Amino acid sequence: MRNKVTVVGGGNVGASCALTLAFKEIADIVLVDVIEGVPMGKALDMLQTGPIEGYDVRVTGANDYGPTANSDVVVITAGLARKPGMSRDDLLLANYEVVKSVTEQVVKHSPNAILVLVTNPLDAMCWVAYKVSKFAKNRVIGMAGVLDSARFRTFIAAELNVSVENVTAVVMGGHGDTMVPVVRLSSVSGIPLTELMPQDTLDQIVERTRNGGAEIVKYLKSGSAYYAPAAAAVEMVESILKDKKKVLPCAAYLEGEYGIHGLFVGVPVKLGRGGIEKIYEIRLEESEKAMLNKSAASVQELIDVIKPKIG
Ligand code: 2OP
Repeated sequence: MRNKVTVVGGGNVGASCALTLAFKEIADIVLVDVIEGVPMGKALDMLQTGPIEGYDVRVTGANDYGPTANSDVVVITAGLARKPGMSRDDLLLANYEVVKSVTEQVVKHSPNAILVLVTNPLDAMCWVAYKVSKFAKNRVIGMAGVLDSARFRTFIAAELNVSVENVTAVVMGGHGDTMVPVVRLSSVSGIPLTELMPQDTLDQIVERTRNGGAEIVKYLKSGSAYYAPAAAAVEMVESILKDKKKVLPCAAYLEGEYGIHGLFVGVPVKLGRGGIEKIYEIRLEESEKAMLNKSAASVQELIDVIKPKIG
């Protein structure tokens, strides 16, 4: 039985995501976008890349959800991206409408799918998809922590001139300026970061990680990052479809874990064929807990704005 993944949104993130999935040959792919012709054109282009790159999957483009029927995983990237000077939160109301209508369609055609959200503001959009889909909480997952920790790992590796492969990093909290890179739990092959660099360098790296998305928006001017966000979503999809049970930082619906109720916030989870198979509730120090609470409070502010719309 072939796996099927739908990617909603044929822009930079969605198309990069579809192409990376094709390279990995883990599923047939349907790329959906409302813009006439664009998903079909990009999908055909990707299909024709197969003979050269040696992947053998079906890539289809569509303006409607018929071809997406019975997808195993649906990655939702549709929506507006930031422009310079904007925060992810500035996208709230516009992307609320997009994610709501996309989710309604997805549920109709793929009632058993696992949803991976990428659209910003991420944690709030996960909440919208969760409420609208009425799916079990293990089947709605947000991509943020994998990207944020990849940025953290990149900067650490560059600073120390070591392989990124040896750097593990944990970033928790919402996908915004209040995200919580947990320095204490990050290391280079088990060596704590505090033993490898002075505190002020570490502080600068934490700050650069928090602003990692904005740094790229500033360069691009007309949009936000897409290669790393797409790769991050694909790592999650792969762990789900191959039932790898990777432990990754993802936005998950919390019901009391870390003292947080009814919100999606980034925490370490186990991803397998059942979606989120476990939420790890690790013991945090007081200062880390305070940062996580602050981050959750900023997610809550967004939910307070959109909650009346959903009821
Ligand atoms: C980022 O952090 C797009 O939110 C995404 O770059």
